[in-house]
Amino acid sequence: MGNASVMAIPPLGSHELGTEAIPSDHYSSQAFFEQEKENIFKKTWLMVGRESDVAEHGDYITYFIDALEVSIIITRDKHGQVNAFYNACTHRGAHVLTEPCGKAKFMTCGFHGWVFDAEGQLADVPGEDLFGDFDKSKLGLKPVSVDVWGGFVFINLDPKPSVPLKEYLQPLNESFDKYLGNKDWTWSYGWRSTFNANWKLLVDAQIEGYHVDQTHRNTIAGAIPGTYAPADVYPDSIGVPARVCAYRPEEMMGIQTDVALLSAKHGATSLYTKSENEFSADDGAGVLNDDHPLWIFDAYLLFPNVVLFIQKGQILVQRTLPISPDKCLWEVDFFHTGEIENFGQLFNSEQGRIQIRDVLTEDLYTAEGIQMNFNAGIIKEIHINRQEIPIRAYYHRLMSAMKGTGE
Ligand code: FES
Ligand SMILES: [Fe+2]
Repeated sequence: MGNASVMAIPPLGSHELGTEAIPSDHYSSQAFFEQEKENIFKKTWLMVGRESDVAEHGDYITYFIDALEVSIIITRDKHGQVNAFYNACTHRGAHVLTEPCGKAKFMTCGFHGWVFDAEGQLADVPGEDLFGDFDKSKLGLKPVSVDVWGGFVFINLDPKPSVPLKEYLQPLNESFDKYLGNKDWTWSYGWRSTFNANWKLLVDAQIEGYHVDQTHRNTIAGAIPGTYAPADVYPDSIGVPARVCAYRPEEMMGIQTDVALLSAKHGATSLYTKSENEFSADDGAGVLNDDHPLWIFDAYLLFPNVVLFIQKGQILVQRTLPISPDKCLWEVDFFHTGEIENFGQLFNSEQGRIQIRDVLTEDLYTAEGIQMNFNAGIIKEIHINRQEIPIRAYYHRLMSAMKGTGE
């Protein structure tokens, strides 16, 4: 551990991506939204869950992309392979599975009882001799491209993705894959909600530090002053346009409640102050910046719709999914390592959960008002400063993805 007073906070972003105002119509235009569905949500890698959600043969989750009216089955077969299929029975098109998760080594369609195995093969047809010329081997579930990285399952609706997932996620390298894929990560808690806002606005809200001093003036502004939240952009990356980082000030400023200070003695989930009792998944070398005494977390934007926060002992995944140009589904999930072993750690966990609930509420409440002003045509462009550079990088990536090449 170095001396806090001599460890510099990295500088804020530059203007390397330009300074011009960004038009706002990509948040509100129906025509743009239709193109996003085709060129982004049918072409890029989408995070759909954790590999541990389908830990054993027959475990499944279903994933619904509202804007596309597409439901996907993710399951694990008897060989241990994770597979993905359109949730579409090849008999007459019903959803084969109707629950968000479950276990079914054989998936039975609820309409007429066609049965599919976890490799998608049509295994049984009631009254098969009622059909005429019939080849079951040609009537398996339609496959969807799927891969696993960092313990997360990603799908791609492009049957032949233009870029493999591992390459798509560069500069997140094998160290990230290993660290995030550690089996010790356990789901802690999460929330989901719909917002009357474009799906990208909920991403924008999490990828810059400029808002912290004002938005979080009643909570964490003293713990992460805006100038302690620099950013990096990765113009050559296909799937990771930018990250924002968070550091503590040398001297805590602003609000530190007695409850938060007490909580910090017992675990890592409080952002308010340096914890005295942090735990971590093994081998965070090259992932965690924890040799910097003031570092709190890095948050990576995974194009198109994920913000992945990596903190010592905790990861946070925010995902948004489009419903319409001005409506989206927002989900957030927290994962921790280690078991809660005593009341102090339980207290820390609960305090962290309540605190982050308040912080997220502060982060997201602006989105619906912004959307109204875009929809009404009152605000036609937005202005982005150096500290908000991830938003400009996100916009650049969006516009290149809209060419529809998958890159
Ligand atoms: S639609 Fe599935 S068995 Fe008929
Ligand atoms: Fe925030």
